[in-house]
This record gives sequence, structure tokens and C-alpha cells, in this order.
Amino acid sequence: MAGNWKMYKTSGQTVEFIRTFAPPACEADVVICPPFTNLAAAVQAAAGTAIEIGAQDVFWLKEGAYTGEVSAPMLLAVGCRWVIIGHSERRQYFGETDETVLKKTVAALEEGLKPIVCVGERLEEREAGSTETVLAKQFLQGISPLTPEQFARIVIAYEPVWAIGTGKTATPEMAAAAHAFLRGQIGAHYGDAAAAACRILYGGSVKPDNVKGLMAQEEIDGALVGGASLDPASFAAIVAAC
Ligand code: 13P
Repeated sequence: MAGNWKMYKTSGQTVEFIRTFAPPACEADVVICPPFTNLAAAVQAAAGTAIEIGAQDVFWLKEGAYTGEVSAPMLLAVGCRWVIIGHSERRQYFGETDETVLKKTVAALEEGLKPIVCVGERLEEREAGSTETVLAKQFLQGISPLTPEQFARIVIAYEPVWAIGTGKTATPEMAAAAHAFLRGQIGAHYGDAAAAACRILYGGSVKPDNVKGLMAQEEIDGALVGGASLDPASFAAIVAAC
């Protein structure tokens, strides 16, 4: 159960959130991904709790003249354990492609970070009936070049772009169908055991009042939550559904 805070909260607000946030004890990994500037404060505030901290992006080289970028060794050094890669907002506004997603995922894995790799179709793609074609391409180009050992260490997040921040959640059945399709792709490439073991999160307008229906689907292994992860009580209620 991961919270993607996007470009919200200062480091002071991050510390306040973590002090207040009381998720129920559960088997799920509980991850918060604040902006880069808040990572150190978040790691410190979460020490001794079950909360793990992740970043929202990473560059694929270790260091160099790349103004504004942050590398995997830097994230590891600050105490990050997770990193979101290929979020649709990065694809839409910052030129992220399946090729850069792959490079970033490999770089994160080399440092022992756990990537949450995002895929998902845009509204016009769903309306054109090409959801599966889009997911297949994102998997083929952005994920399937990973070795089986590398693949075993990633989490996939299915986030239909039309459901992000819009209040329009995919129905549990629609989300489960997309997850099943992705799992089929994984199975064809890496085998059934890898497909069964891979955690696929759903993201897109997940809220306390719709999370139970989503999590009731066997295909849905967790959630990547945007807006509703910004409030400690709301995110705790979402974690409780896992
Ligand atoms: P919302 O939950 O705000 O729709 O955002 C989803 C998301 O993009 C998580 O990465």
C-alpha cells in the first residue's frame, strides 16, 4: 500500500504526517513517497515504525553533470527503500518513455532499491479499444527486457491515466481485467510462477470508500494512492483494507 504524494507537502508537513499516521498492523508493505526534498526528514521520522519511504523518480546514471537529477545511490544513502518509476505524469509532462523507464528500473535495482513501475492507458486509448495493446507495449518495451532475477524484485502499478486525480475509479472488475491481462503477459514471458508472485497495485482515485471493492479482487495486490494518501486518517483507512 503506497502513497504517492506527488508535489505536495513540505518537510515539516511530512514529519507531522508521519507522527500522526497510525496504520493498523498488517502484512502489507506500507510505503510513503514524498518529494525529494522531504526524503531525509521522512526517513528520520519513520525510523522504528513499519513505514518505508520511497522516491517518486530516479535518474539512471550514478552521478555526473545532469542538473536537477537525483541518482539511485543518492536515494539509497538517504534511506529510501522504494522508488516509483514511469508514473504517467512523468510520461505526460517530462518525456518519460518505456526506454527511460527500463534504464531507471535497472539503475534502481542495481542499488537494491525496490521499483514500483507504472503502466496504464490514456482515456483515448481505452475509448479506442486499445488498452491491451498499450499495456502489452509498455510491458514489452519497459519491463520485459529485465532478467527474471531483476523482474522478481519489482512491483507493477496499473494506473489508468483517466482515473488519476479525476475521481473516476476503474470499477474493480475493469481493474482486475487489466491486472489479469498484465499477469498473462508476465506469465508468457517469465513463466506462471513469476506471474503469480508479482505484486500488481491499482492506482487511480483510490479512496477509503472504494478500496475494499478493489482489494476484494484477487488480481489486485495493493494500491498506489495519490490524493487520499495525503491525509493520515484517510491513508490509514486505505491501508486497513489490505
Ligand atoms: P489519485 O489517487 O490522486 O487519483 O492519484 C493516483 C496516482 O497517480 C498514484 O500514483
